[in-house]
Amino acid sequence: MISNGELIQLVSPQGKKYIRKLDIQSELHTHDGKIAFKDIIDLEFGDSINTHLGVPYVVLKPTLYEIIKSIDRRTQIIYPKDIGYILLRLGIGPGTQVVEAGCGSGGLTTALAYMVGDNGRVYAFDRREDFVNLCKNNLKKVGLDVRVSFFLKDIESGFDVKDMDTGFLDVREPWNYIDQFASAVKNGSEVGFLVPTANQVIKLIKALEKGPYVDIDVVEILLRRYKAVAERFRPDDRMVAHTGFLIFARVKM
Ligand SMILES: C[S@@+](CC[C@H](N)C(=O)[O-])C[C@H]1O[C@@H](n2cnc3c(N)ncnc32)[C@H](O)[C@@H]1O
Repeated sequence: MISNGELIQLVSPQGKKYIRKLDIQSELHTHDGKIAFKDIIDLEFGDSINTHLGVPYVVLKPTLYEIIKSIDRRTQIIYPKDIGYILLRLGIGPGTQVVEAGCGSGGLTTALAYMVGDNGRVYAFDRREDFVNLCKNNLKKVGLDVRVSFFLKDIESGFDVKDMDTGFLDVREPWNYIDQFASAVKNGSEVGFLVPTANQVIKLIKALEKGPYVDIDVVEILLRRYKAVAERFRPDDRMVAHTGFLIFARVKM
């Protein structure tokens, strides 16, 4: 049974999705009518609930993919296709201590906080107060803010953490902070970066080559969607052709 405080997703007959933390005191207002959250408490995931106008909405447990896609964004966020690979490459799992900058809207922060579990921690930095607050609010909405320490800080002056298991930088000029970054993580850690342009990749490689980084690896993830229609199965006409380059390296002091 669904309990108070759980994260739920309500899906309209037209496929519109609403992700909310279940609070029995509140209700969802849609163009199909209102749904009182107290009426969801006794349901199971997969059940339907009618709005006060009689329109059925399905109640589902949102996946991490759906949670990330639903966040309120005012910066470019890292796409789920890239996040999935980042999590594997950095070895993020229960108990991981991870540092990241800039946290921006919190796309990556959400995934990191979800994966590190109750015994891990995310240390999220951004130099803009509006983005730290946005990130915090996005994480709070889905109950993951308790696993994150937020820092309003320009990483030019260093990270306030040490001995992290790993870290990720999604900032415009990562080559300016690679010494500060290396000091925040354990020696031997695998760390990552995302930059959108090839010029930035080249600048970053030149900086990483000066150390203390080894095993530099650059990848790009392409995701092609297909029309799931049995009679004329084929690729979608359009695709998001480029999001960013992912750069990974080992810190070696
Ligand atoms: C593209 S956004 C990050 C998006 C985020 N990774 C996500 O998935 O939602 C880049 C962020 O880096 C921050 N930033 C850029 N340079 C920074 C620096 N030197 N110190 C701290 N934050 C920085 C910006 O303020 C911005 O919020």
